[in-house]
Amino acid sequence: MNSGAFLLPNKEGLQRAAEILKSDQILAVPTETVYGLAGNALSTNTVHKIFNVKKRPSYDPLIVHVHSLDQVRKLTFFPKNEQIVKTLLHFWPGAITFIFRKSSLVPNCVTANKESVAIRIPGHNVFRQLLQLVDLPLAAPSANPFSYISPTQAQHVYDNFGDEIPILDGGVCHYGVESTVVSLLDEKQLEILRPGPVSAKELESVSGMKVIHRSKKEKENDLEISPGLSKRHYSPRKPLTLFDDISDIQPQFGDVVIFYKPISESDKTLPCKNKFLSEIGDINEAAQKVFSELRIWDQSSYSRIYFQRFPNTGIGKAVNDRLERAAAQE
Ligand code: TXA
Ligand code: MG
Repeated sequence: MNSGAFLLPNKEGLQRAAEILKSDQILAVPTETVYGLAGNALSTNTVHKIFNVKKRPSYDPLIVHVHSLDQVRKLTFFPKNEQIVKTLLHFWPGAITFIFRKSSLVPNCVTANKESVAIRIPGHNVFRQLLQLVDLPLAAPSANPFSYISPTQAQHVYDNFGDEIPILDGGVCHYGVESTVVSLLDEKQLEILRPGPVSAKELESVSGMKVIHRSKKEKENDLEISPGLSKRHYSPRKPLTLFDDISDIQPQFGDVVIFYKPISESDKTLPCKNKFLSEIGDINEAAQKVFSELRIWDQSSYSRIYFQRFPNTGIGKAVNDRLERAAAQE
């Protein structure tokens, strides 16, 4: 590890981080979901740099991060619907991104020429301080090379980009799964484009509105709506197989099997490495470790990774969505 790439989340580190961003350079930033690769969203040069560093196709739009609703108003045609405004105020700052109609202030390269823009007011204390210091909207995709596993620690970013990108170290990400993405384009209902830490149930109960999910089929057929939802994503280089019950798989010596909860004595006789993510089977605790574990075993000498699907509730839905795509073949 070269400590030169890391900035501490103290006064000097934050000042340096702000200088980097104000001079239109790129910086990796901590958020409560995953680390982001941030740059001035109003500078087309900087936005192009983000796409290049990440090797992200230009048709896949970025999320813009801000610290205040005033900034959101400038970047969007702000919704008039009171239920929507109440929903924004409830969940922000937080692990949720909303899609608005964009104002002309947002460069087209940020939104991949779409008329809409994705915006998030994050809750991570260090990132919020930085956003206030810089006082610019920051475009930031997850700080992983395109289609590889998302980073949930500063070291993960360093492992992928080395000294090329300075990193503001804000510790381990609290959720470990990317934000829920919700479209506000139809003011009569909320549409979840990507499941995340904020569940449909919570959205429904706070907004009092109908909440719909973009179906799997629609997602595959309609990359136009949320282009980042291509089937294979978040993927390790090693083969990854998902399972519900241990009896569904036949792991071999040299494979690793990851469970979200502790395993029974009889399951421990498997001829391979066993690992569980939460001592008490807490899916939130386990979710935080999913990307990190995928990285560990992808870099290990084990040949195949088996990963147990999570219960399909709460954050488990988001984890299962990421695991399915990490395991997809194309
Ligand atoms: O938690 C997160 O959301 C992290 C942190 C860094 O904020 N960011 C993140 O960014 O996951 P990224 O670029 O990896 O994923 C952004 C997702 C993609 O699926 C993209 O297609 C979608 O948001 N998106 C962005 N702008 C959109 C738009 N205008 N309409 C529909 N989907 C959009
Ligand atoms: Mg991503």
